[in-house]
Amino acid sequence: MSIEAETPIHRRPSVFDVTCVRLDFPALQQIIHKEPLAYLDNAASAQKPTTVIDALSAAYTFNYSNVHRGVHTLSQRATDAYEGAREIAQRFLGASRAEEVVFVRGTTEGINLVAQSFVRPRIEAGDEILISELEHHSNIVPWQMVCQQTGARLRVVPITDRGEVDLDVYADSLSQRTAIVAVSHVSNSLGTINPVRKMVELAKQHGIPTLIDGAQAAPHLSLDVGNLGCDFYTVSGHKLFGPTGIGVLYGRLDRLEEMEPYQGGGEMIRSVTFESTEYNSPPHKFEAGTPHIAGAIGLAAAMAYVEGLGLDAIEAYEKKLLKYVTRRLEELPEVRLIGTADEKAAVVSFLVDGVHAHDVGTILDQKGIAVRVGHHCAQPVMDRFGVPATARASFAFYNTIQEADRLVDGIEYVLEVFGR
Ligand code: ALA
Repeated sequence: MSIEAETPIHRRPSVFDVTCVRLDFPALQQIIHKEPLAYLDNAASAQKPTTVIDALSAAYTFNYSNVHRGVHTLSQRATDAYEGAREIAQRFLGASRAEEVVFVRGTTEGINLVAQSFVRPRIEAGDEILISELEHHSNIVPWQMVCQQTGARLRVVPITDRGEVDLDVYADSLSQRTAIVAVSHVSNSLGTINPVRKMVELAKQHGIPTLIDGAQAAPHLSLDVGNLGCDFYTVSGHKLFGPTGIGVLYGRLDRLEEMEPYQGGGEMIRSVTFESTEYNSPPHKFEAGTPHIAGAIGLAAAMAYVEGLGLDAIEAYEKKLLKYVTRRLEELPEVRLIGTADEKAAVVSFLVDGVHAHDVGTILDQKGIAVRVGHHCAQPVMDRFGVPATARASFAFYNTIQEADRLVDGIEYVLEVFGR
């Protein structure tokens, strides 16, 4: 049976029942340091539902072989499942064709692919790559590499004290010199939801291509790349309740067609002689080598699972969680929230007065509460706020109000331990 046939109906209206949802996630049933696990590190990586684990197991147990190469039954089953996964990813992202879906290792690889295959051959010394101060390192470093390779310049739009991209500066920064705009949809470190539709629209008025880093958006927001109008959009499977080592780069078909691949090998060719090689068409020309077959199948199972819960229901539920945890943290005078944008995903980055973020994380772990501490792969954001690190609690749809309360109780315990 295909993944499609086993999964719930696309974005069906649903009553969101977190108690039932949690039962789908074996990892959430654990006891850590004698406490039930409160997993609040979803921006780093999310837990996996049984349906994903089962899809991976089935892919390796019964249907495993290489894809696009065999006439035998297992190869055909694997190929059908892999290409079926592409169709589910197409639907999940709102792409108009499956050919616009390139399987990559994750958001990082998606951005590097666009940087090297699309931007590098088209950019000249003095041109600009426009990003924001809010970006994850994966949306900074690949562009710095292109700048070093070509003499182009990285231009950075600042953020406000609330952690929002300054839209006026953004609009003023767009020019004939801008080769691409590359911005995150949702900030991993602060949770800010950027007005990407508006940003894409402004870039388009200047004919500037756009790439949206959707790694943190895909688990929380309903996506429609067609409606967004961007040229590229990239997501990671592991943050979307799917496997590690797999993600998707959406590229508008005409863009993908005009791009040269930056990796060569098997799979991505139509014919090879020692004199010359003819490349395959997109998306295959960007998928050199044996792909992460089971990963793509697992990712599709994750996307179908999330669709089954309903992105609108997820968004509404997580908004309530965010509102609640923000209010509770604001009640603690010793806690300073970093990132207070109007539009946020359920991420709270914070400092506890007089306590290093690493100590906060370690003590919370003793209470069974998992948060991330550090710079969150966004050192420029930390620099912007003049802090070396924050503690970050990042929620998913399987988290509860009770877990938000446990976070607050845990912070009160941290304060007690430090005699504050
Ligand atoms: N980008 C991941 C995070 O935000 C690893 O934690």
